[in-house]
Amino acid sequence: MTHSTDLNLSLFERAKALIPGGVNSPVRAFRAVGGTPRFIARAQGAYMWDANGQRFIDYIGSWGPMILGHGHPAVLEAVQKAALEGFSFGAPTEREVELAEEIIRHVPSMEMIRLVSSGTEAGMSAIRLARGATGRSKIIKFNGCYHGHADSLLVKAGSGLATFGHATSAGVPAEVVQHTLVLEYNDVAQLEEAFALHGKEVACVIMEPIAGNMNFVRASVPFMRRARELCTQHGALLVIDEVMTGFRVGLGSAQGLYAQQIPGFAPDLTVLGKVIGGGMPLAAFGGPRAIMEQLAPLGPVYQAGTLSGNPVATACGLATLREIAKPGFYEQLAARTRALIDGLAGAAQAEGVAFCADSEGGMFGFFLLPQLPQNYPEVLKTDGARFNQLFHGLLERGVYIAPALYEAGFVSAAHTAQDIDATVAAAREVFKMLSI
Ligand SMILES: Cc1ncc(COP(=O)(O)O)c(C=O)c1O
Repeated sequence: MTHSTDLNLSLFERAKALIPGGVNSPVRAFRAVGGTPRFIARAQGAYMWDANGQRFIDYIGSWGPMILGHGHPAVLEAVQKAALEGFSFGAPTEREVELAEEIIRHVPSMEMIRLVSSGTEAGMSAIRLARGATGRSKIIKFNGCYHGHADSLLVKAGSGLATFGHATSAGVPAEVVQHTLVLEYNDVAQLEEAFALHGKEVACVIMEPIAGNMNFVRASVPFMRRARELCTQHGALLVIDEVMTGFRVGLGSAQGLYAQQIPGFAPDLTVLGKVIGGGMPLAAFGGPRAIMEQLAPLGPVYQAGTLSGNPVATACGLATLREIAKPGFYEQLAARTRALIDGLAGAAQAEGVAFCADSEGGMFGFFLLPQLPQNYPEVLKTDGARFNQLFHGLLERGVYIAPALYEAGFVSAAHTAQDIDATVAAAREVFKMLSI
């Protein structure tokens, strides 16, 4: 592509003049991998086309929501019908009730749910509710987990367990993060120590059950079990952030998988987003009635939103959930995702490239490392330059994976066996270059 005909480049220049970094969410700017971001013109099924007309097999799926692929006919029909009926009313609708029923049917730890517009809003509201319900201030989060960009969550660990976090963003006052304790993921001993020191003050522990913001790192079963026990023992709430994993790794979400291995396991609060909106701005948080009734207008914890439960977004989410609840959906999706990572692992092995991968349902992660990492420092052992070579090699060959090594990947129901084969073939060519 010559400079003068690269429409991505000219759009990027226009965008940079008007929008900071040319993007409305930082990772889209390709800063980690370098190069020009692709401006997407349209998408259908498993594919996206950029401004130059190049087609990509899409393994981002809008960072998770597009589990059915782009433009699924049933979803499109529901959205078109809803749009004709009205974009937004600022008053309750039947569809909000239907969506709440559909979500709770599959994730029964939630007796009540509140709909919001983004995962950030849902996570922030869940934490406010946890603080309001417990009357405590401190929260525990884990290094490498992301729960949206609320002030109190933009924190890195302090020095030792006695000191709370330091802000990772300018504009976040030290006073705001002084209540956030950041611990290492999957470290049972550290969590026990933190509760021994601060247990009476902890409102909640918030965690990703499979950390997609570390690419793909599962909470170990002992870690999840102990987190549940410690929260119960100390009167803190366990908040499971399923914005990424919710309805993505299985119909019962990640908590359903842990409940199979930890009898009686359930979080106190669940945070959802992405798939439940099917690509529209919609997210939610929910939990037991006694906790949720602390929310306004019933209780003292304030939370509100002009566009919450938006009628077009709920139509999109509801149609998506109805499709993925059909028998056999997740078995097929999981098999296809597994075929992808097995194929990639085989190609890497054939070319002598260190590689490991994991997947659950339609979510996957892979690392240019000999074994799966258990926490963020281990994820960061990946050679960034090699990852960037892999990313650009795939992109040139029409395969679009996340432009950062600490992001998960997503397969949709629209990805075919041929798409997987084409991806593996492209990866093998790139692995060959990496091994030189
Ligand atoms: C686990 C998790 N929680 C929360 C969020 C924030 O969601 P949103 O980007 O919709 O604000 C994300 C976003 O990627 C996420 O992955």
